[in-house]
Amino acid sequence: MNYVMADPTGLCFGVRRAIDQLEDALRLHGEVYALGSPIHNPQEVRRLEKCGLRVVRTPQEVPEGGTVFIRAHGVPPEDLDLLQVRHTNLVDGTCPFVRKAQEEAKRLSREGYFVVIVGDTDHPEVKGIRGHVEGKVAVINPALPEEPGILSSSRVGVVCQTTLREESLIKIVSTLLTRTEELHVCNTICRATMLRQDSVRKLSKKVDGIIVMGGRNSANTHKLVQIVQSSGTPVQWIEQAEELDWRWVEGKNTLGIAAGASTPDWLIHELHHKLESSRLSKGMDG
Ligand code: F3S
Repeated sequence: MNYVMADPTGLCFGVRRAIDQLEDALRLHGEVYALGSPIHNPQEVRRLEKCGLRVVRTPQEVPEGGTVFIRAHGVPPEDLDLLQVRHTNLVDGTCPFVRKAQEEAKRLSREGYFVVIVGDTDHPEVKGIRGHVEGKVAVINPALPEEPGILSSSRVGVVCQTTLREESLIKIVSTLLTRTEELHVCNTICRATMLRQDSVRKLSKKVDGIIVMGGRNSANTHKLVQIVQSSGTPVQWIEQAEELDWRWVEGKNTLGIAAGASTPDWLIHELHHKLESSRLSKGMDG
């Protein structure tokens, strides 16, 4: 059995940068609070918790003067205001691409557009972008019926969740085009996401099955799995090497490996190690 890595795959620039910032802060302060889970990967969060990370749900749970880490998804400005009142020391891990989506949303609303955010309504990144809008706003989840209020607006500005699939944006923009007089689209899909999706799409044509590694709470990992599924290639979604179903691996000559943008390198190394050991032991048996 051979295996091929999707390229690129695994940690994106924004999450790698955020983890580095968080590790630096932990070394410096010993204890760091994160508003919500800082990375959509349970194994990595557990590792960081052992180093002093404390995950809280609201700014009110952060002690006065504590150090707070803002995750790559960003937060709404109201949360920053609440943290400032508590005199916290802020470590801002907001990914620059997410920051761009927040700023575009703010600019469009200041210019009088009805802002449409295309993305998952409940995703923290979308909530953060929404919080930056100063006027009318609606979130369109590509999987759900559209927001009726948009139909009464003649000037619509669009931004999207950075991890959105390009096809979803195109579909919604095409619909809006026929219903508005002026449509301003800022494509805020992150290239890291597109490249990872393309690489897995290509890989699925060349292999007998793909292992996708990443947190079950990771939207971008879920999208990689969906892409493989729609190609018809068998896929196995695991969070860590020990979950691998060896009966599924059996009989496949070439396996592909892909990982979500929040899957840390050490988990991918563990998977490599497991696959290599199995290959060696099979070689010895033979
Ligand atoms: Fe940033 Fe793109 Fe990653 S928005 S967090 S580099 S997927």
